[in-house]
Amino acid sequence: MKYKIGFIGAGNMAKAIIKGLLSASIVKEDEILASASSQNSIDQTKASLKIQTTLDNTQVARECEYVILAIKPYMVETILQEISDYLSPDQVVISIAAGITLDQLAEWTDHKVRLYRAMPNTPAHVNAGMTSLCTKISSEDPSYSYVISLFEAIGKCEVIKESLIHAAIAIHGSSPAYVYMMLEAMGDAGVLLGLPRDQAYKMAAQSLYGAALMSLETGLHPGVLKDQVTSPGGTTIEAVASLEKSGFRSDLIEAMVSCASKSIQMSTKK
Ligand SMILES: NC(=O)c1ccc[n+]([C@@H]2O[C@H](COP(=O)([O-])OP(=O)(O)OC[C@H]3O[C@@H](n4cnc5c(N)ncnc54)[C@H](OP(=O)(O)O)[C@@H]3O)[C@@H](O)[C@H]2O)c1
Repeated sequence: MKYKIGFIGAGNMAKAIIKGLLSASIVKEDEILASASSQNSIDQTKASLKIQTTLDNTQVARECEYVILAIKPYMVETILQEISDYLSPDQVVISIAAGITLDQLAEWTDHKVRLYRAMPNTPAHVNAGMTSLCTKISSEDPSYSYVISLFEAIGKCEVIKESLIHAAIAIHGSSPAYVYMMLEAMGDAGVLLGLPRDQAYKMAAQSLYGAALMSLETGLHPGVLKDQVTSPGGTTIEAVASLEKSGFRSDLIEAMVSCASKSIQMSTKK
């Protein structure tokens, strides 16, 4: 194959993944080909990322070992019908389209390629993404660890059963929104307490980032980390008690269960 990785669609998510792959040196610029629907878009992508581009989706199917579908979910069926005849069994197709299942992908590619379904999230733009990966391919297959490494270039990647995708949507697909709500509220509280707004947001964001990093790097139970900040009769336990009284934890659990339920409802409507 002429190229290692091809993207069909060169929008926000494709660009975030390409930047991550290049900065992690997983592939070189001349090993990536990307297609989009407009000349303007491919010109801009070529100029900014120095990769090869095309308006012809079938070129991506003919010339790339790994084909990443980075188009809107409603376009996946049509585009796979357009390129399917050009795919061969030695290729791998990875879809990042929300809500498109492995069975649908298999049907639309005539069951002839190795398939992966990935769900990244928006922090992928700053190489701090979380991707859930689903596949029916064995972990012995050479593509398995390679596909994981592609998503590890933009953050962390976990392989899950496809039936757990709704839980993954709640815990990392949609959760940046709840965290931004918390960030905004913490900033407002800082302002209420007299801090300039820009400093309040910076302090709040760095604390969220630092707390997340502590959890990832120490591997300690969140309750242990919380207890380390909470001295007897101190300030933190006042805030903790107030949050418990207003149902902070149960609100979050309920919100995430609603999120997963909506995802299930949307997938069964199709
Ligand atoms: N954004 C996220 O945070 C996020 C997170 C998880 C999953 N996803 C999934 O990622 C996928 C892409 O999302 P996005 O935000 O990157 O979308 P986007 O920025 O709108 O990009 C879509 C790309 O598809 C191209 N395109 C449209 N029609 C095409 C065609 N017929 N042939 C080839 N390319 C075509 C567009 O071309 P032009 O550039 O010429 O318009 C554009 O480059 C979606 O399925 C979404 O569910 C996104």
